[in-house]
Amino acid sequence: MMKLIIHGGFFSESDQSNEVKAAKQAALKQIVSSSFDYLKDHTAEETVVYAVSLLEDNNLFNAGTGSQIQSDGKIRMSASLMNGENQKFSGVINIENVKNPIEIARILMQEDDRVLGGNGAKKYATEHGIPEFSTEIPQRRKEYEEKLRNGGKGTVGCVAIDSNGKLAAATSTGGKGFELVGRVSDSATVAGNYANRYCAVSCTGVGEDIVSNATASKIVTRVSDGFSIEKAFEKTFQELKEIEGFAGAIGIDHKGDIFHQDSHPTMVFASFDGSNFSIFN
Ligand code: GLY
Repeated sequence: MMKLIIHGGFFSESDQSNEVKAAKQAALKQIVSSSFDYLKDHTAEETVVYAVSLLEDNNLFNAGTGSQIQSDGKIRMSASLMNGENQKFSGVINIENVKNPIEIARILMQEDDRVLGGNGAKKYATEHGIPEFSTEIPQRRKEYEEKLRNGGKGTVGCVAIDSNGKLAAATSTGGKGFELVGRVSDSATVAGNYANRYCAVSCTGVGEDIVSNATASKIVTRVSDGFSIEKAFEKTFQELKEIEGFAGAIGIDHKGDIFHQDSHPTMVFASFDGSNFSIFN
């Protein structure tokens, strides 16, 4: 029954080359297969954290290292984790100078207060032994200085079902790029990342659209109420279209059915079930 699917935001033909596309395909294939190996002796919750931390460490993607820069020249990142079995959600919002925001979300799972923002999130990370780390790369600084607004569509995520049929979702983002200081992304909300015993979903795209559409929580609720995962995605993306929203989502249900959909070309994703890879083209 073990399966997983990951995403790395959107790929746009107009502002990215074929080399970047091939590099993203290769990175996703490598990360989905090493995460599948990890899933063999770890839970879904542990595996989604592992997969998202690998995506955060790869500077091809807008999360962790390689995150976009906000309007005041600083990087602030957001990430969240949800365990479908116990329905616990944890996350960090607008955290600065840590290598893996998803790791702080993982540690927060043990707390009563499970979603922390800004300075409080950073203070908590430091108190839990997380070292200072700059996630800035020269390419992002150059884009910031040239005011290249390519943002809003990059996030990473993973959903998994483990050998016991348990589901989990994790999502992490460097945000939109050039956003107002204090802007809150969808990625550490239930619109961007949600799971229960029936379904787990992670989103990418424009945070404001994902929140307006309540995308992840709506898909999961529909599956819980008896929709097939395909129909749940279809109806939710129809509603997103009605508000001219821009988003993509990945999901797995309790039967192990995997589904993904995007409102625009092309969400960057890869899935693996132990024998078959599926990858964006
Ligand atoms: N989905 C990422 C963001 O809008 O911040």
